[in-house]
Amino acid sequence: MSTSTFRAAVVRTPDGPDSIEIIDAPVVEPGPGEVRVEIAAAPVNPVDLGVAGGLFHALGLVNQPEHTGLGWDFAGTVVATGTDVDLTVGTRVAGMVPGFDRDFGTYAEQLVVPVADLAVVPDGLDLLAASTVPLNGLAAAQIVDLLGDAPLDGNRLMVTGAAGAVGGYLTSLAQDRGWQVTGLARVNDEEFVRGLGADFTTTAERGWDAVADSGVLQERGVALVRDGGIFVGVQPRTMPATERGIIVQVVTSHPDGPRLGDLLARAASGELPTRVLAAVPLDQVADAHRAMADGGIRGRYVLKP
Ligand SMILES: NC(=O)c1ccc[n+]([C@@H]2O[C@H](COP(=O)([O-])OP(=O)(O)OC[C@H]3O[C@@H](n4cnc5c(N)ncnc54)[C@H](OP(=O)(O)O)[C@@H]3O)[C@@H](O)[C@H]2O)c1
Repeated sequence: MSTSTFRAAVVRTPDGPDSIEIIDAPVVEPGPGEVRVEIAAAPVNPVDLGVAGGLFHALGLVNQPEHTGLGWDFAGTVVATGTDVDLTVGTRVAGMVPGFDRDFGTYAEQLVVPVADLAVVPDGLDLLAASTVPLNGLAAAQIVDLLGDAPLDGNRLMVTGAAGAVGGYLTSLAQDRGWQVTGLARVNDEEFVRGLGADFTTTAERGWDAVADSGVLQERGVALVRDGGIFVGVQPRTMPATERGIIVQVVTSHPDGPRLGDLLARAASGELPTRVLAAVPLDQVADAHRAMADGGIRGRYVLKP
């Protein structure tokens, strides 16, 4: 990495993978409570395809004068510290940066981030694997917060998309709160879903006490909930309507350093799955976006800036 500039992937006029550019930008020093991280790994998530495709610009959620950053989560190494920071240079960390409206994201050689949003990566968990935890692990944990403790007389939870990144974590974490989980996934996902301690189905039958919709079935997901049950979605901008007395909620995942520390510890112990499909050089970011858009992948493409 240069001492004065760093490389980052951005979009100026978002129009899909071909509109992603790699630019050089001036290095920024961390302020109070911040660190500068040299990013070793940054996963490609579905939301990044939406940003690169202009979905969120069209919704008026991005107002960047020059360019918009890509990438929400990362793992890397602290290379500089601001004041009021108890992490030292050389510490391995992971974290997420929230929101669409920013000039840089985690598809970058470096990033300045608040230390409160980070967690130390445990020994024994490599940075590629660790990078796949923050956005989707925190989304899953925060969906479980919205579900709450399972009522004793109604604890049957369907997780749609249970073999996906959010769904895999959710299928595991929801069991901590007493939910008896059934994962809806594709036929080839049975071993993975059952390996998380859940029941498995490929059929979206009705009548669940709760549905957590990481497969983005939306209205079709609400229809699976029994009268008066709970639905938690993952698309804050397109929340499905309630019906039949169902409580409809939606997650907006947000940084939480201590919570992420717990998730990383569980990933290090093997309790939570970390699935890296392939490590991809930053220069090949457009190829990774195209491959992800084709669908049906399991595990993440992880960029190596
Ligand atoms: N609101 C938030 O804060 C937040 C945070 C993180 C993620 N998200 C969103 O959550 C969604 C899931 O993200 P992700 O990273 O987990 O995506 P992912 O890894 O692609 O997982 C989605 C999974 O759902 C499966 N699926 C879809 N429809 C299905 C069906 N009818 N039956 C069985 N399986 C089905 C997909 O299988 P196939 O691949 O075979 O189709 C895939 O395995 C995305 O829309 C993402 O943007 C929201």
